[in-house]
Amino acid sequence: MAILVTGGLGYIGSHTVVELINNNFEVIIVDDLSNSEKFILNNIEEITGRRPIFYPFDLKRKELLAQVFNAHHIEGCINFAAFKAVGESQEKPVDYYENNLFSLINILQEFKSRNLSNFIFSSSCTVYGQADEMPIDENTPLKIPESVYGKTKQMGEEILKDFAQAYNRKICLLRYFNPIGAHPSSLLGELPIGIPNNLVPYVMQTAAGIREKLNIWGDDYPTEDGTAVRDYIYVVDLAKAHVAALKKLMNDNSNDAVTDIFNLGTGKGSSVLEVVKAFELANNIEVPYQICDRREGDITIAYANVSKAERELGWKSETSLEEALKTVWEWQKYLASRIN
Ligand code: NAD
Ligand code: WQD
Repeated sequence: MAILVTGGLGYIGSHTVVELINNNFEVIIVDDLSNSEKFILNNIEEITGRRPIFYPFDLKRKELLAQVFNAHHIEGCINFAAFKAVGESQEKPVDYYENNLFSLINILQEFKSRNLSNFIFSSSCTVYGQADEMPIDENTPLKIPESVYGKTKQMGEEILKDFAQAYNRKICLLRYFNPIGAHPSSLLGELPIGIPNNLVPYVMQTAAGIREKLNIWGDDYPTEDGTAVRDYIYVVDLAKAHVAALKKLMNDNSNDAVTDIFNLGTGKGSSVLEVVKAFELANNIEVPYQICDRREGDITIAYANVSKAERELGWKSETSLEEALKTVWEWQKYLASRIN
């Protein structure tokens, strides 16, 4: 049985491909390399001993997508492919809506006409905005996201709910909190293309001397140390949740529509300063930083209630913040060795 993994050479996608292969799924990757590199395919093969079938094209190209469905017996899809830079989405809203929503709709058209089911969508905790209460469970009210990127996630969720209802299909919305870390082999990780926006890639590059100092965006939040709090989830743990979610959908033999929604985090919040200290401690290296004004659009605090995923997927995160941050530094060393 083949699973279509869109964006399968990207950060979370590549880790998930490894876990799928480890669980004996046949994987078909479609990725246009707009935010990833071809060597990741070789590295997946090096880790697993199997080379997934790979199609390098843009999912907006419907005719090429149809050919993939013609060529393979596809039984499910994990749709990672999307543009994800929050700031850029404000500058290029039409491009973000086009890429993130047309790709999704094109795959769903194939699913609809071929009577396919088992669709997993990469959503985000951004759909909750600043929630009124912590921890955030799946029934926490959604807020209209501040960013166009966030809106594409919320719209994607709505499209999929309607798809499941109208055609009696099984779908799952996975709302990731803040994914961090790299594969223990150091062969996969987050490729920081340009100046990183996210905290951990910026910390990594500062430790490596690529950036002079980390800017900590605000220390006047109503939190214990004044810096903002997030739920940092190790990417391999996150990847394993996808396999659990896929198996749950595939083992459901009813003909009813299924819309599963899971928050994927650790259940624990960490402040920016805690992340910096944990990185320093884990890797015995200093991260110079300075405190700056708050970043526009940032929320104060977000961490997940993960009991639904534990109960229904039999999944929970296993890796500590320090362990995850160790893999980040090993990944940076691997990236540096590729350049030299
Ligand atoms: P990523 O950019 O590393 O991976 C996305 C992959 O999709 C890239 O390899 C890119 O080349 C590919 N892609 C993008 N548009 C495409 C298109 N039209 N056709 C074919 N390929 C295309 O991102 P990631 O961090 O792995 O995120 C994966 C998914 O998870 C995204 O949907 C993202 O929005 C979501 N998500 C990410 C985070 C995070 O912090 N990383 C948090 C919550 C949700
Ligand atoms: C974490 C904390 C920053 C960089 C974003 C998206 C969200 C989701 C996850 C995809 C914040 C602080 C950061 C820096 C800093 N992605 N920070 N200096 O903001 O929680 O969410 O990624 O769905 O949609 O918005 O993650 O890693 O950018 O920031 O002080 O150089 O680190 O202010 O408090 P965030 P992040």
